[in-house]
Amino acid sequence: MLAFVAIALAVYGLVNFYIGRRGAQALASVPAARAIFLVLFIGLALLFPLGRILMSYARNGLTSILVELGTFHLAVMLYGFMAVLAVDLVRLINVFVRILPASPAGEGARSGPTVFAAVAGVVALTVAYGAWNATRLRTVELDLHVPAKAGAVDTLAVAVASDLHLGALVGPRRLEKVVDRMNGLEPDVVLFAGDIVDETVTEEIEAKLAEMGKRITEDYEGKDVLLVGVLRGAFMVMADLARHIDLPVEFDFMAVSSYGASTQTSGVVRILKDLDEEIAGRHVLIVEDIIDSGLTLSYLMKSLNVRKPASLEIATLLLKEGIQRVPIEVKYVGFPIGPEFVVGYGLDYAGKYRNLPYVGVMGAET
Ligand code: IMP
Ligand code: MG
Repeated sequence: MLAFVAIALAVYGLVNFYIGRRGAQALASVPAARAIFLVLFIGLALLFPLGRILMSYARNGLTSILVELGTFHLAVMLYGFMAVLAVDLVRLINVFVRILPASPAGEGARSGPTVFAAVAGVVALTVAYGAWNATRLRTVELDLHVPAKAGAVDTLAVAVASDLHLGALVGPRRLEKVVDRMNGLEPDVVLFAGDIVDETVTEEIEAKLAEMGKRITEDYEGKDVLLVGVLRGAFMVMADLARHIDLPVEFDFMAVSSYGASTQTSGVVRILKDLDEEIAGRHVLIVEDIIDSGLTLSYLMKSLNVRKPASLEIATLLLKEGIQRVPIEVKYVGFPIGPEFVVGYGLDYAGKYRNLPYVGVMGAET
């Protein structure tokens, strides 16, 4: 890993050095333009590594913008490298075989800015075209015939989305567009092919819990907090959230019955394990993985409120929006989600999948 980073950085540095140096040479006769170019170019080149390094400490709007601009520079760098290399190759060949018109002495220095402008123009156009092209969704329809009969199925409409590359540049808005387009095709089967996400999805949860932990730290400043995790699902959220709470914190757990092996709420709540701590006069924060009907929590809130805590609030990673069967006030919500049954990150289906490091929608069982 370290060797890879070192090699990547070295290549990155060398390519940028080459482009920067050739650009500066071309602008040698116009010192002002040369200075502006160097400042801009070096600044842009530093953004990507800088954004990456900062992002490993904290993910926020600033680091996202840095990485976004930095990724943009990667494109500038790639096309810039090819263009500058092409110019240099032509000049090299020209040394042996005259292909450029002979120029009087001193002409080279004067043509520098012109060549620079041409190269910069080509690069800018290419990058702009690429950026525009990347936002354009194209639908290609293929009529495929498979010489086999599968049961009663005659035709099958398969919608395939390829190479989404969700990440720094391609966000939820683009994903929504893709999903809308795919749904519009009314497919029987949906496939996502190629590279779906750049980097990892777990960072989103991590960033959200960090943000939540920060709010909790601020809101409870000067107080002791008793975190109450609802077993079993909340164990992962509890562990990761607590790491971002900078307060004197104690832990306790309750276990309540879930839905058994079904994906539908039964509305029946049983306390399987009660708290070990007394909560009278204490600031209690219930930590949940997910709130669905809200029945579990509303029952828990009632039974805990009877014990007269100083305060009682809820923090949940996920909240299924608009389907609560009882009114419930949740102070800290990570992600509002749809009504689908989800698994992973502590959430189970029939006891399984809790270990997945991400949250995924449970598909039909096959
Ligand atoms: P509620 O009482 O309907 O709000 O359900 C709360 C509990 O049901 C959660 O703590 C989970 O254990 C479980 N649950 C609700 N929705 C899901 C889901 O989509 N996947 C996994 N477990 C769920
Ligand atoms: Mg639960």
